[in-house]
Amino acid sequence: MRQLLAAWLVIDEHDLPMNPRLLGKPGVGKTTLAYAAAKRLGREVFILQATVDTRPEDLLITPVIEGAAKLRYVASPLVSAMLRGGIVILDEGNRMSEKSWASLAPLLDNRRYVESIVAGIKIKAHPLFRLVATMNDDASTFDLPEYIHSRLQPQITIDFPERHEEMAILRENLPFSDDQVLNYVTDFLQHAHASDERYTVRDGVNIARFALKLASSESIAPNTELLRIAIEQTLGEEALRYVPGR
Ligand SMILES: Nc1ncnc2c1ncn2[C@@H]1O[C@H](COP(=O)(O)OP(=O)(O)OP(=O)(O)O)[C@@H](O)[C@H]1O
Ligand SMILES: [Mg+2]
Repeated sequence: MRQLLAAWLVIDEHDLPMNPRLLGKPGVGKTTLAYAAAKRLGREVFILQATVDTRPEDLLITPVIEGAAKLRYVASPLVSAMLRGGIVILDEGNRMSEKSWASLAPLLDNRRYVESIVAGIKIKAHPLFRLVATMNDDASTFDLPEYIHSRLQPQITIDFPERHEEMAILRENLPFSDDQVLNYVTDFLQHAHASDERYTVRDGVNIARFALKLASSESIAPNTELLRIAIEQTLGEEALRYVPGR
């Protein structure tokens, strides 16, 4: 959080904000962190969910037909943030093709503008505009070219949380759960992290939530049998080897 907010600071009239990139495995909290940092600044937050088929115009401006012989030009979340001095989270940015990234190159250096070919205009970013990109380090993604890499700095890597952090995240998401369930799921996750398994806190939240629902539906207290069922149905049978006490 400190690094992300520091990267966005402007410390002199000749200074520019940076465009940080949050890196980490799926589900470690990249989007959550980006959103929390943006909220801390008290600005409007816009999220643009990138996919493999996000086109340059999806990032900038799209024409929409409005009635007979009438076109309306609609700003993307990114351009909305540029105009209003908000913060844009370019989520899962590494899924996007080089062609789409190329349309953002001038925005990400000292020019701080984009050019919409569709609308035929140049749009300058508000001085308060800030950008953060999140990226998974999984295989289903594009390798970004160097000129984009060098514009998305600094790189902030998010690792798996420590035990007490993971416990706190679970408690935050499931405040109605008793500690026994949270402890069990935390042990399971920590055990899996130690073997470099890809299971994340999101999986942990789902496991605990499902076990609690199963218990509630049978009007019984949550027990290890229900937790095992929840683990198996969330992550598959092979996950059972990380069950605590085995
Ligand atoms: N620090 C945190 N505080 C509270 N909840 C958290 C925290 N970190 C992660 N979580 C929980 O874990 C889940 C996964 O987090 P998030 O969606 O931010 O991960 P991600 O890295 O963006 O995942 P993906 O790569 O799948 O997009 C969230 O739904 C959130 O509930
Ligand atoms: Mg995310």
